[in-house]
Amino acid sequence: MQRVWKKLTIKSVGAVIAAAALTAITVAPAAAKEFRLGLITPPPHVWTKAAGAFGEDLKDATGGAHSVAVFPSRQLGNEAQMLQQLQTGALDMAFLTVAEVSNRVPDLGAFYAPYLVKDIAAAATLLRSGPARKLLDQLPRKIGVVGVGYGSAGLRQIAARDAVTDAASLSGKKIRITPFEPIKDFYTLLDTAPTPMPLPAVYDALANGQVDAIDMDLELIWKLKYWQHTKTVVLSNHMMFPMVGLVSAKVWSGLSGEERTTIRTLMAKHVDSTIDVYVAGEAKFLDEVKKTGVNVVTVGPEFFGDSIAKWNGIWEKKTGAVKILRAEAN
Ligand code: BEZ
Repeated sequence: MQRVWKKLTIKSVGAVIAAAALTAITVAPAAAKEFRLGLITPPPHVWTKAAGAFGEDLKDATGGAHSVAVFPSRQLGNEAQMLQQLQTGALDMAFLTVAEVSNRVPDLGAFYAPYLVKDIAAAATLLRSGPARKLLDQLPRKIGVVGVGYGSAGLRQIAARDAVTDAASLSGKKIRITPFEPIKDFYTLLDTAPTPMPLPAVYDALANGQVDAIDMDLELIWKLKYWQHTKTVVLSNHMMFPMVGLVSAKVWSGLSGEERTTIRTLMAKHVDSTIDVYVAGEAKFLDEVKKTGVNVVTVGPEFFGDSIAKWNGIWEKKTGAVKILRAEAN
């Protein structure tokens, strides 16, 4: 990759060329580009900040030849639409929930095995493991994107408008979920009514009672003020919530080897940095939620009864990756 816009001085003989020799000609590298990167999270979110930092690093590393325009808050559409844009090359890059990708690549649904990991530190170790990374190899062939590495959000909890004492309290209740299959199965098996809903719609839906509870992490329960309409947080840590840094395979194929290495290294570094934020931050997020005065009820797998075993039964048939990741996590 050319690190800088080069100033070439043409030296030659003859009148015309001699005249030209006095002129400095600025030539842009053929692949100089502002990459467009989309994501659904709002500007202050950890993922969006990581996308901005990746852009800064890429600019530095390429002497300004390459940069990144970040489009947060679903400005380019929802995740399904962004994935389509990546496939056609209309979008260069995205940080997407693994949830969305798992809708097309069931192996990635294995990350959502309930209680696959015991805490966020174990989630970090799993996401950085060989078997987890290997799952990304199939993405170019199956869905036309290159997966450079994983990031994460916090572990999943349940924030409910009413008191929750046991799973029966949630029976028949509408629970907001991120739109993807593994979590839909989880809440269906729990005898609730999972209600797929994108992040921007969640606050109002919880406030006006369109849903009775939400599947969410502690950070957003606190920062997006979902606690304002929450009586109980069921502190269950029942699921991981990974993110993946993606580049359009079409765009990738037009990059030089050196450009690919630079982009892969820097994007992987910045998506990975989000994992550390949650490892360091989960305890603080919990403190902040507790300070709001909501009732925090700590539960373990037993809260969910036989729905976990049933989930495993369904998903172990769908993908061998459940057993592979569980063996790695153990
Ligand atoms: C959610 O859908 O709950 C979500 C999406 C992105 C980051 C964090 C949470």
